[in-house]
Amino acid sequence: MVSTQPYGTAPVDLTPGSFEFSMHMCDLASFSPVPVDALNNGVGKLPALGYNTWNAYGCNIDEDLVLESAQLMVSLGLQAVGYEYVNIDDCYAEKNRSASGDIVADSVRFAHGMKNLTDQIHKLGFDSGWFTCGGYPGSFQNELRDATTFQDWGFDYLKFDNCAIPFDDIIREGMIGKYTRMSDALAQLSQSSGQPPFLFSLCQWGWEQVWLWGSTLGHSWRVTGDIAPEWDSLALIINFNSFITQATDFYGHNDMDMLQLGNGGLTFDEAKSHFTAWALMKSPLLIGTNLSAITLDILGILTNTEILAINQDPVVGKSISPFRWGINPDWTSNSTSPAQYYSGPSENGTVFMLLNTLNETSDMFFNLTESPWIRAGRQYSVRDLWTHTDNGTAVRNFTAVDVPPHGVVALLLNDAGDEPAGIFPPCAVWFNCAYENGTAAN
Ligand code: GAL
Repeated sequence: MVSTQPYGTAPVDLTPGSFEFSMHMCDLASFSPVPVDALNNGVGKLPALGYNTWNAYGCNIDEDLVLESAQLMVSLGLQAVGYEYVNIDDCYAEKNRSASGDIVADSVRFAHGMKNLTDQIHKLGFDSGWFTCGGYPGSFQNELRDATTFQDWGFDYLKFDNCAIPFDDIIREGMIGKYTRMSDALAQLSQSSGQPPFLFSLCQWGWEQVWLWGSTLGHSWRVTGDIAPEWDSLALIINFNSFITQATDFYGHNDMDMLQLGNGGLTFDEAKSHFTAWALMKSPLLIGTNLSAITLDILGILTNTEILAINQDPVVGKSISPFRWGINPDWTSNSTSPAQYYSGPSENGTVFMLLNTLNETSDMFFNLTESPWIRAGRQYSVRDLWTHTDNGTAVRNFTAVDVPPHGVVALLLNDAGDEPAGIFPPCAVWFNCAYENGTAAN
């Protein structure tokens, strides 16, 4: 919907550059208070796969680095397995807009201009993306102008941040209204230019329960503050996201933030858990490490095509969700030790993720029918998505042996026919199980 409401109620002096990015102000009547379907405007059906400069470089970016990263995406085989966006985060612009009010690319660090850069990146076969929050011009009250600039520069992905929020007596509306402003601008731009809409990534750190309304405005929405390259940060994000997994489906995804694989002090097992949780919870997967120094271990994780296939499932858009919390009582929030047992449907079977949140090696056991996607009385073939092996047939339950500290197991289970006859007890869930005549079996 393109809002035709006049923006704002008071004349405001908005000096270019006084807002780092984003934000919106329109009459309350111009947006629907009741979120409806996900924003199916032709793009963003599946979680975005790509690269973003921020986690590795912060503001230390320039055109050579971005181009080199794009080239490495190709030569390392990342593009071949589906990573298609190359995103520039904050600090790409001059601090001040031009005399006519446009955002200007940093004339030193992007000396040849953004269009030149995106042209070269597109020649490599990529889409390219965009962003800010570090004191560079923001888009408040310049949404359509800036979106037009970004499109002219060859971008098609917009991450819209939430810094330097105008005072309430200027905005006089909530977060939904502020983000509607850019969502409308992108729709209007697509309509007038005839080009596909931008992929629109909301980045306001999960404020105002964005997972309840983000899908009406954009294709993904950050659910927490910034990720750090350490286990505690991963655990906090997984725990938080585990309670809002229903918000994710085609065209609208909880964004657990950009990947830290390859950064900081994550162990190999923590990196695997990071990638697995993000992928199976259908988060966008934006690589955020220095690709020229990437190890084969990390590259191997990022290119696990069996895991990526679930993230990019074209038939089932749902996230995995916890079915048992493990060491915590069910439905207990624990930022340092999230739920341990998850499952969800997929095109190719029922997906399970077992997360060892403990600091010690553990066996992890579950009854198959603890997952709602499993049929009682059936047995299941087990595919291990990390060892890439078929691990026999599970009847009633499964135990993963020796899961390392902060390690993960990812499985795909497929119906393999009736379970063997005569198993005792006759119901896997024994409670309330009864004979046909009504006599309780237990
Ligand atoms: C934050 C955002 C980060 C990064 C940063 C740039 O608000 O959450 O992902 O974009 O701004 O300044």
